[in-house]
Amino acid sequence: MDIVAMKRRGERIAALTAYDYTSAQMIDAAGVPFILIGDTLGMVVQGQDTTLPVTLDQIIYHSQMVARGSQRALLVGDMPFMSYQVSVEDALRNSARLLTEGKVGAVKIEGGASIAPTIERLVNVGIPVCGHLGFTPQSVHAMGGPRIQGKEPSAAASLVADAKALEAAGAFAIVLELVPATVAQEISRRVSIPTIGIGAGPHCDGEVQVFHDLFGLYSDLKPRHTRRYLKVAEDIASATRQFIRDVSEGTFPGAEQTSDLGAEAKERFRA
Ligand code: KIV
Ligand code: NA
Repeated sequence: MDIVAMKRRGERIAALTAYDYTSAQMIDAAGVPFILIGDTLGMVVQGQDTTLPVTLDQIIYHSQMVARGSQRALLVGDMPFMSYQVSVEDALRNSARLLTEGKVGAVKIEGGASIAPTIERLVNVGIPVCGHLGFTPQSVHAMGGPRIQGKEPSAAASLVADAKALEAAGAFAIVLELVPATVAQEISRRVSIPTIGIGAGPHCDGEVQVFHDLFGLYSDLKPRHTRRYLKVAEDIASATRQFIRDVSEGTFPGAEQTSDLGAEAKERFRA
C-alpha cells in the first residue's frame, strides 16, 4: 500500500490499530490500508494507565502476530517510550529490530523538530518513519493528561514548524492527535506527506482509530474522538450470560455438538 500516493491521488486514508492475528486478519481482509501496532496496547490489551511501560519486545511480539494475519496493509509499529530518545544508535538498532523481527514495514516515533535528526538517520538507512505530533501519549506526564495541543497561536505555529521538520527529515506520514481542526487543516495543506488524524478534525488526509474504541470492546469509557461502530463488549457479556445459562440448564452441549457410538456399538459397550 502506497500511503503517500494516496494523498497525491486525493484518496483519504483509513487506519486502525491491531494487536494480534485475529483482529489483523479481519481488518486487513476488509481492506484497511494502514495498520498500526500502537503502544496503546499497553492500555487496551494490558490494562495499564499509560503507554509508558510498553517494551520493544512486547511491540515486536504483537507485530509478529499482526503480520501473520495481514496480507495487504502497510504495518506500522510504534517505537515505545525510551526506545529512540536516548541516542540515535538506540533508535537505529531498535527500529531495525522492529522491522526485521516484528515484520512491520515502518515505525512510528513521537515528537517534533527535536526528534527530526533521529528520523532523518532512520530514513537514510532505509527505515520508513511515521511521525506523531500534537498530544503525544509518551509525554502524558509532561502534558498534564490527554489535552488538545496547539490551541494558542504560538503553539499552533510550532506544530506547523514541527510538521515541516518531520517532512524535511523524510517522514512518510504524520499522525496528528488531539489538535484543533483548523491547525490540522493548515498542517495538512502545508506538507505534501499525508496527515493521519485522531481527535484532529475532518481535514486531515486520513484518520486513525484504536480497534477497541471503534468496535466497543469495553463498555465503560468512550473517548469523544471515536465513533462506536459496534458494541462488542455488550454482545460478549450477554452471550457469556447465555452460555452460562445453557451449561447450567444442560442445553449445551446439544446434539449438534455431540458425537456418539452407533446403536449397536452402544449395546455392546453397555453389556
Ligand atoms: O498507540 C496508538 O494506538 C497510537 C494511535 C492512537 C495514533 O499511537
Ligand atoms: Na502510540
